[in-house]
Amino acid sequence: MAQGKMDTRAIGLDVGLSFASWLTGAENLHYGDWTGLEINAANLGPAQVAYTDRLFRFLPDKPCRILDIGGGAGETARKLLALGHQVEIVIPSAFLASRCGENAKGAVVHEMRFEDFEGTGKFDVCLFSESFQYIPLGTGLKKCLGLLAPADGSSSLIASAGKGSARTRCWPLSAAAIRSPAFAPL
Ligand SMILES: C[S@@+](CC[C@H](N)C(=O)[O-])C[C@H]1O[C@@H](n2cnc3c(N)ncnc32)[C@H](O)[C@@H]1O
Repeated sequence: MAQGKMDTRAIGLDVGLSFASWLTGAENLHYGDWTGLEINAANLGPAQVAYTDRLFRFLPDKPCRILDIGGGAGETARKLLALGHQVEIVIPSAFLASRCGENAKGAVVHEMRFEDFEGTGKFDVCLFSESFQYIPLGTGLKKCLGLLAPADGSSSLIASAGKGSARTRCWPLSAAAIRSPAFAPL
C-alpha cells in the first residue's frame, strides 16, 4: 500500500469485528447463513453459527491439515483445532493476526497476503471462508494447486455467505477439478 493511503477494506473489517464481537460475543467476520432466520441484529449470532455448521459439513470427517486463507480473527480456526485438525492461517492484517494468536492457540499464523504465501504440498484443505473475493482471481485457485497434498481427497473449499439462502454457498473443489479445462481461464 502506497505511503499515506488508507486501506478502507481493512478498516471496515476491523470495525466490523468490533461490532460483531460486541453483538454476538464471538469474533466471526462472515455474514452468517440467514436461511429461515428473520434479518435482525438478534439473529446475527445464530446465523453465524449456522454458517459455520454448514461449512464444516464439507470437511473430511477425519483430522486433516487445513490452510485457512483470510482467517479473520481466528474464530473458525479455533473451532477447527477443537475438532482435531491442524491449522495454519494466512492473514495480511497485523491486528487480525494478533487476534488469531489469541483465539486460535495452536494454529500457525502467517501474517501476509495469500499472494505472498509460500509453501508446497502439505495441506488437505485450502479453505476460503468468505475470503475468496479478496484475492486476485488469477492467484487463488492456481496457488492452491501447489499447496494441496497429492492425496486424492485434497480440496479447496470456497464458501461465501450472506442474506438469504441464495447467497449462502459452499463450493468444494478437488485438486483434479481445479486442474480441469473448466478452470483453465483462472
Ligand atoms: C470477510 S473476512 C472473512 C474472515 C473469516 N474467514 C471468517 O469466515 O470469518 C475476509 C478476510 O480475508 C482477509 N484478506 C483480505 N485480503 C487478503 C489477501 N490478499 N490474502 C489473504 N487474506 C486476505 C481479510 O483480512 C479477512 O480476514
